[in-house]
Amino acid sequence: MARLTRALLMVSGLVSGTAAQNMTRGDGLHSLMVAAGKLYFGTAMETNNFNDAAYQAISTDKNEFGMFTPENSQKWEVTEPKQAQFVFTQADAVAQKVKSNGQLLRCHTLTWHSQLPSFVSSGTWTPATLTAVITAHITNVMTHYAGQCYAWDVVNEALNEDGTFRESVFLSTLGPAYLPLSFSIASKVDPSTKLYYNDFNLETSPRKADGAVKIVQLIQAAGAQIDGVGFQAHLNVGQTPSRAALAATLGRFVALGVEVAYTELDVAHATMPPSEADRERQAADYVAAVGSCLDVERCVGVTVWQFSDRYSWVPGTFPGKGDACLYTRDYQKKPAYKAVVKLLQGAAAAAAEAGGGGGGGSRGPNSTGGVGVPSATVSTQTSPTGDDESAATKALSGASAVMGGLSGLVWPLVAAVFVL
Ligand code: G3I
Repeated sequence: MARLTRALLMVSGLVSGTAAQNMTRGDGLHSLMVAAGKLYFGTAMETNNFNDAAYQAISTDKNEFGMFTPENSQKWEVTEPKQAQFVFTQADAVAQKVKSNGQLLRCHTLTWHSQLPSFVSSGTWTPATLTAVITAHITNVMTHYAGQCYAWDVVNEALNEDGTFRESVFLSTLGPAYLPLSFSIASKVDPSTKLYYNDFNLETSPRKADGAVKIVQLIQAAGAQIDGVGFQAHLNVGQTPSRAALAATLGRFVALGVEVAYTELDVAHATMPPSEADRERQAADYVAAVGSCLDVERCVGVTVWQFSDRYSWVPGTFPGKGDACLYTRDYQKKPAYKAVVKLLQGAAAAAAEAGGGGGGGSRGPNSTGGVGVPSATVSTQTSPTGDDESAATKALSGASAVMGGLSGLVWPLVAAVFVL
């Protein structure tokens, strides 16, 4: 499977031959993950990490990380701060660094209630005008990154903890139809990129997972493309479900015909500094999460939401909590890191024995044994570089067609979801 993974990545054009060869050398997180039959082990990264030499030494090591997600720079407030003015400078810098090092990119995120520019969050909208704005945004951003993203988080965090739809400008104006609408637009722009619904606490809240199941069904019933569900996995030490329970939750989504991934994994301590026992519990929680991905054939990979405590979002958002990452602030490997490596070494050895090729046997990223990478034909899209206005205009004129095409199917489904 590892050989097949490498071969398909090379055919896809997303990874050069040299990069693909390097992916399985050594004992880093990514190379072991690939040897265990998965596609990647990745991390969030942002431009504010660029001048940190110690950070860069680790993040550019393809044995350690094979996939990157821009932590903030592809969000709406950055990429379209003012209507129809698209800015890709920061995200391009992340994408370029990743590309030049032969690594892969997960793209994050398109339709999200948070980190919205004020023209969207404070605007006065009708269904038609907001549809046009969503269409223009997705079309421009995805066209700019066409062929560069393994996956896009098309819609992010649309659910409340009880599984109902989260209040947002999108929900109040369009109802749940904004979800299939977003996926429909995305698939028209770049159908070869994996299109994901992404949310947190799906791992720990069965009611929220129920809501996400309904979202996948809603999008599928509307005839729109959805390829994956991202489990953010912002977990807490000592409160992480067991490996088996996590695998069972992942399996609920695989049964719907989509792939799954952990997209923002970290495991936060409730109080600081953590004791040695807390650090061991954190290690066990990381092992449960990564192990559950190993256990589910269509779990394609794991991304951590920064690998060092130096850049973790946790203490800023939850004062008093922290140390959620695999490396310390000073880039020392924690017990959690060592435990994950040990887990992956075992999985890679078992896969090699079972498959004879150092790969994951039947544990490939999808049920057909292939890898879920975009095909080589992604770059048929025209780049909007220097032509953002005309792309936006085209998107605007296409908006009513998209809405018209969906409306017959979506509105009865939306009604059904509300009834459920
Ligand atoms: O860019 C401004 C800067 O100009 C200003 O000086 C500074 C002052 O605080 O703020 C900067 O913006 C910050 C931004 O990150 C970029 O660094 C925001 O305050 C800060 O709130 C923002 O936090 C990000 C958060 O999303 C926003 O919702 C975190 O870095 C990022 O890790 C986090 O990521 C989210 C995922 O996208 C979705 N899932 C949950 C995850 C964690 O919240």
